Amino acid sequence: MNKPEVMPENLPFYLKDNFAPTFEEVTATELKVTGEIPRALNGRMLRNGPNPQTGWSSHWFLGDGMIHGVELEDGKANWYRNRYVRTPLFADSGADPIEAIMDLQKSAANTHIIHHAGKILALEEAHLPFALTPELETEGPWDFAGKLNTPMTAHPKTCPETGELLFFGYGIFPPYLTYHRVSASGELVQSEEITVPGATMIHDFNITRNYVIWMDLPAVWDVENMADSGLPIKWDPSYGARLGVMPREGCDADVVWYEIDPCYVFHPLNAYEEGNQIVIDVCRKANVMAARVESPAMLYRWVIDQDKGTVTETQLDDRSTEFPRLNDSLVGLKHRYGYVAGLSDVGPLAERYIKFDLANDSSQVFELGAGREGSEAVFVADPDGSAEDDGWLLSYVFDKAAGTSELVIMDAADLSRGALATVHLPARVPMGFHGSWIPENY
Ligand SMILES: [Fe+2]
Repeated sequence: MNKPEVMPENLPFYLKDNFAPTFEEVTATELKVTGEIPRALNGRMLRNGPNPQTGWSSHWFLGDGMIHGVELEDGKANWYRNRYVRTPLFADSGADPIEAIMDLQKSAANTHIIHHAGKILALEEAHLPFALTPELETEGPWDFAGKLNTPMTAHPKTCPETGELLFFGYGIFPPYLTYHRVSASGELVQSEEITVPGATMIHDFNITRNYVIWMDLPAVWDVENMADSGLPIKWDPSYGARLGVMPREGCDADVVWYEIDPCYVFHPLNAYEEGNQIVIDVCRKANVMAARVESPAMLYRWVIDQDKGTVTETQLDDRSTEFPRLNDSLVGLKHRYGYVAGLSDVGPLAERYIKFDLANDSSQVFELGAGREGSEAVFVADPDGSAEDDGWLLSYVFDKAAGTSELVIMDAADLSRGALATVHLPARVPMGFHGSWIPENY
């Protein structure tokens, strides 16, 4: 969207300080490193985020997607690159992203980046994914050989046991929710329309070994709310809130719905089965889009008892946390550890990283320190490791005083060690959303 006249001091949080977009696409090699990069880290740390090319967007969620990446190899940092995702929305820089919702290719492509079946995909929840090269050039929209005709969530799940990619798309017109299952080789093999009462913002979902679990929560589509919140979403607890359990190869008729108290969850940490119970750990907010100041998300556990037909809800921690990640080899399986960004009071930026040990009800914290702001930390398993927490956390961190950004590598087994290695970047990396480690042979 074109930028209106706004005094710098009146800019919204997501357009100033280190949330401000950067405009230059940089390629830099021979990066300076402090400390020692683990030699087993061979691949690329890619992260997506909104970076409005005009300098303006009406909400943090709506800026044009830009990918930042660092390639690591054999203890060296080979390169840093940042590139816009070049979608038809990017090409039409004055377009209204809300009007663009009617065109599956007019994506901001700004939310996540994953790999599956040999493809690197930039994702945003209202459109098709966009395929990128390993050097971050945009190849184009990917509709699974013509089979995907709904949007694709930015939070698909890769099953570590089958290699399948499970995901959904939500829409503002029926079908409001559609489930998709993609084989390990990348073929879209199942699509099912799922009945929900209305159009809501469904940011994420859950999988276990046998089920997918929908979160139908009261963030209701409402264009009238655009003027208030910058997004056409309204908090409406009268919509109710429910979790829907469906066999992974099942259909709408198989979904069992469980009512829960109204709340909002952008991001679950993980879900798994224990007997006939399903355990789901989530960063739960009391509401969303309900006030100018968003309610904080905190770690909660839901336990669905499929025999009793009940859901219990337990708060596990009282700190403001978001961007939960885990060892991806345990997606849908029982996890012990979760890694989250401990958020600042002033906005969605990490002041610390917290490792939860859910077996011992304990946590470990790495404080970034004054003037240092991080984004989501991604867990990368040590290929030679065996324990769940054998690996590293990688995150982009901004140092306010220096005005520069770094890729920080932490020891996931012991966060108290701080940064094992810091890759000093030649460009500022604005705050963003989600990223992935793309291994050498993906
Ligand atoms: Fe997200």
